[in-house]
Amino acid sequence: MKIAVVGTGYVGLVTGTCLAETGNTVTCVDINEEKVKKLQSGVIPIYEPGLDILFNRNTAQGRLKFTTSLAEGIEEAKIIFLALPTPPDEDGSADLKYILGVADDLGKLIKNYVVVVDKSTVPVGTAEMVRERIAKNATCEFDVVSNPEFLREGVAVEDFMKPDRIVIGTSSEKAKKIMEQLYLPFVRQGNPIIFMSERSAEMTKYAANAFLATKITFMNEIANLCEKVGANVDDIRRGIGADSRIGKRFLFAGVGYGGSCFPKDVQALAKTAEDNQYDFKILKSVMAVNTSQKTKLIEPLKNYFSGNLKDKQIAVWGLAFKPYTDDIREAPALDNIRILLELGAKVRAYDPEAMNNVKQLLGDKIEYAESPYGALLNSDALLIMTEWPVFRTPDFEVVASLLKNKAIFDGRNLYEPKEMQEMGFYYVSIGR
Ligand code: UDX
Repeated sequence: MKIAVVGTGYVGLVTGTCLAETGNTVTCVDINEEKVKKLQSGVIPIYEPGLDILFNRNTAQGRLKFTTSLAEGIEEAKIIFLALPTPPDEDGSADLKYILGVADDLGKLIKNYVVVVDKSTVPVGTAEMVRERIAKNATCEFDVVSNPEFLREGVAVEDFMKPDRIVIGTSSEKAKKIMEQLYLPFVRQGNPIIFMSERSAEMTKYAANAFLATKITFMNEIANLCEKVGANVDDIRRGIGADSRIGKRFLFAGVGYGGSCFPKDVQALAKTAEDNQYDFKILKSVMAVNTSQKTKLIEPLKNYFSGNLKDKQIAVWGLAFKPYTDDIREAPALDNIRILLELGAKVRAYDPEAMNNVKQLLGDKIEYAESPYGALLNSDALLIMTEWPVFRTPDFEVVASLLKNKAIFDGRNLYEPKEMQEMGFYYVSIGR
């Protein structure tokens, strides 16, 4: 099939590349000329494990192309994916100007029946808006389908190639058949393609992310209470995770969730509730708890230095919002660094992938180390913000020899408190 993907951000690029992998001819369209030039010359602007192999194979085979021209990109396309940004407005609602702008243009450009797919996370009712905007100018038949993505950064290629489920929102039988044909190669293991209305598909995406954000936040509150009552959240996690109704995953307490999806989507769903005169109390609490959870370790860190962090150098391990990504959007590390700098501390950081992004944001406000141990040099304490595997089993003798104080503040519960104590570390983690 001939497919167009409009928007070559994270979702668009992964979608386009993976769809080419199953033999489709995909043209990705982006207004950013510099980005398109890079992609045309084989440079992938994001870090995503495994994407390069698929990208190189499919560009070499001529199945994956890039252009800045929407007209050229959608020529003969049977399906047009919209993978455009939906940044939060000042009031938290998703800003649809990019999507609706492209919908206006598409109306003028389409010549034959085409399925237009909303891939971006968009508020309930957006598919209808997109349909209206295309219809204003269109002279041919078309359908608008909602097909939310559930890709996790860092494993996006795997998630796309072997999805737990595909959700398709459409009321058109014709579009349903085309979408089914497109996705059949991805559900060979028997995972379902779930069809529903456009509105339900849009809501499904928000419900999934809000549920997961709530699950994490619930565990974070359990962890906070564990600290008060002398229980260990790791044991609670194992104890409740063994119940198949609860499940083992997404129960890790820590310094809160970040990233480009959870914070934005929880906020947008809360706004949808408000707009519909529904008081979604849990979501409000989830947002408030997560905000305070992110910087929870600042207080014990301050206390360790008797309330004064001035001129103390804090080593920070991990800047990305989670491992296997260079994404620093809403990363807890950034909130912590901001506060540390405000309190007069110095920061020396290391992250395996995200340092360039932080350099662009913070410049020389902090120091950047070449390695995990390098960050400890002359540092007064260590703060851990991301659970990269390289931080999991350090040589603690080296750590102790480099740090001025044997003090570790661990926001991702990487080490055993008892072992740390035995080695003479002052060790603070979450909920243990
Ligand atoms: C998420 C959804 O998982 C994905 O389906 C959706 O399409 C986009 O948003 P992503 O943002 O890539 O994906 O990250 P994810 O792996 O889900 O983690 C989100 C945040 O939760 C991270 O900050 C992570 O550190 C945190 N987290 C996750 C926890 O604090 N504890 C956990 O147990 C799991």
